[in-house]
Amino acid sequence: MCGIIGYVGLDDAKKALIKGLQTLEYRGYDSAGIAYCQPEGIKTIKTVGKVSKLKEKVADEASDDVATCGIGHTRWATHGGVSATNSHPHTAGKVTLIHNGIIENYKELQEELAAKGLEPVSQTDTEIAAMVINDCYHGDPEAAIKKAITKLEGAYGFCVMFSDIPETIYAVRNGSPLVAAHTDRGSIIASDMVALVSYTKHYFVLKEGHIAKLTEDEIIVKDENGEVYGPYIHHISWDMASAKKGGYDYFMMKEIHEQPEALRNTIRPRMVNGLPDFSADNIGDDIFEGINRIVITACGTAMHSGLMGKNMIERLCRIPVTVDIASEFRYQNPIIDEKTLLITVSQSGETADTLAALRLAKERGAKTLSVVNVKGSSIARESDYVLYTHAGPEIAVASTKAYSVQVAVMYLIAFRLALVSGKISEQEAAEYMTTMMNTINKVEEVLGYDSQTERIAKRLTKATDIFFLGRGLDYALSCEGSLKLKEISYIHSEAYAAGELKHGTISLITDNVPVIALATQPDVYAKIISNVQEVRSRGARVILITGADAEVDAALCDYHIVLPDTDPLFAPFVATVVLQYLAYYVSVEKGLNVDQPRNLAKSVTVE
Ligand code: M6R
Repeated sequence: MCGIIGYVGLDDAKKALIKGLQTLEYRGYDSAGIAYCQPEGIKTIKTVGKVSKLKEKVADEASDDVATCGIGHTRWATHGGVSATNSHPHTAGKVTLIHNGIIENYKELQEELAAKGLEPVSQTDTEIAAMVINDCYHGDPEAAIKKAITKLEGAYGFCVMFSDIPETIYAVRNGSPLVAAHTDRGSIIASDMVALVSYTKHYFVLKEGHIAKLTEDEIIVKDENGEVYGPYIHHISWDMASAKKGGYDYFMMKEIHEQPEALRNTIRPRMVNGLPDFSADNIGDDIFEGINRIVITACGTAMHSGLMGKNMIERLCRIPVTVDIASEFRYQNPIIDEKTLLITVSQSGETADTLAALRLAKERGAKTLSVVNVKGSSIARESDYVLYTHAGPEIAVASTKAYSVQVAVMYLIAFRLALVSGKISEQEAAEYMTTMMNTINKVEEVLGYDSQTERIAKRLTKATDIFFLGRGLDYALSCEGSLKLKEISYIHSEAYAAGELKHGTISLITDNVPVIALATQPDVYAKIISNVQEVRSRGARVILITGADAEVDAALCDYHIVLPDTDPLFAPFVATVVLQYLAYYVSVEKGLNVDQPRNLAKSVTVE
């Protein structure tokens, strides 16, 4: 949520910042801005709109400026509307800064500043933070930052420049992520590794409360006591090509196609002698010892993968599993104790609500396991155990490959727990593993359904409401299919457990309302078909998705999508691609920006 970057080094800082912001734009795209050191002081250029607009403005207004140190920001608006004044960087006195997060007590701080005769020009919490740091500044930047953060409440990642200390950037964070690296071209810091990867594959995560000082020659990190701290260096395994579109029109399509590889990379290291095994993750079976329930908590798509996990874990392991939306979890006084295994799921590993839920669960003594894609992220670092999903960077706001691998890890947890608790035999566990690996070939096959789904999607663009129906695993998947569609097509959509529709919602089904029905599960097949008949007889336009051997009466639906022959338990891995394609093509057909849907951001680091 908001992309921030700082660069100081041998390269043209303006170019480095714009290039970095382009990679970070998925984190917010309401406005963008940069500030950089000039002999006469710090110069700021900002604009409403995307980084491409900023790039043009910088070319128009600053082509002659030579700059080697600066900070840049791409904004997802929270406090204060979308305007040039509210765009970052913000300046107060000698301080110019960029911010990712929310300062919760900014109103009180604003009143304190007003009492000193200091008024902001914008409506943002960020400008107040800049004013507070400036107010604390008497020539020692670290002392000023240290004092200011004792006054600030909320989440922040700041990069700060002081007009009287040129060619230097200071950074500090609480909650919001910041990663940094020093290379032979200088020092760079950003809210996401994707902005660093064209410089280096080695980086560190700035710890909360530590202050980093970046210059061309080095990065010095100091801990809360002012002692120099040597951060742990992480290495990434993917390269710049992974963070580019690679010939696809949109990242989302590229990432849909990366699912087979992501699944293989995620499952293979957890398959030892054909059995599910987490020893490569340093997770022994003691993780399951003494637990009497599992609570899964996450947001959005990640939460939907939790729904899939609940279904599989309860089905195979016979242990109660609840799935909670992370933003609700911490405010409902959740029933958790040392016999609870709390599983958080997060692509970014930085989602504020999920992180808060994890912290609460730890306080209450639960064992914590996180399923995370971004290495070294806050949720990963703070969990007792981590299972990384190996999806590589996911850039499109709409999650696709990250979802598939989260579901795969849910299945792996179900298999391992069922095996160690004696609910399934080694042979059964091995069969599940083999079937899951074989399913990846079916995922490859279903990638060939693009033209079929595109044709259907073209008939959906005028709809104002679209319903998804399913039962069991298909219901869990419907929730994800519906979210995917609404977030990138702007068409209202809801997912319903098919049997629940007639308890109210069926009154919304009238002529031509599209209903996408998933019917891949043999145990409830007859039931869902009856539910489809109920909507069909009320005029619904039905898109029916079934397994390969389902016999479907042609009168039952307008479109029938037959999935490649797959074991029903693993059908969600295949069916999800169809739902992703439908959402994608509706969005493309409507001429929308698939990768950057309005009002959204990839990483939600505010509550
Ligand atoms: O990074 P996280 O997985 O924690 O993000 C949680 C949600 O914001 C995310 O899954 C969101 O719902 C998807 N981007 C939607 O496609």
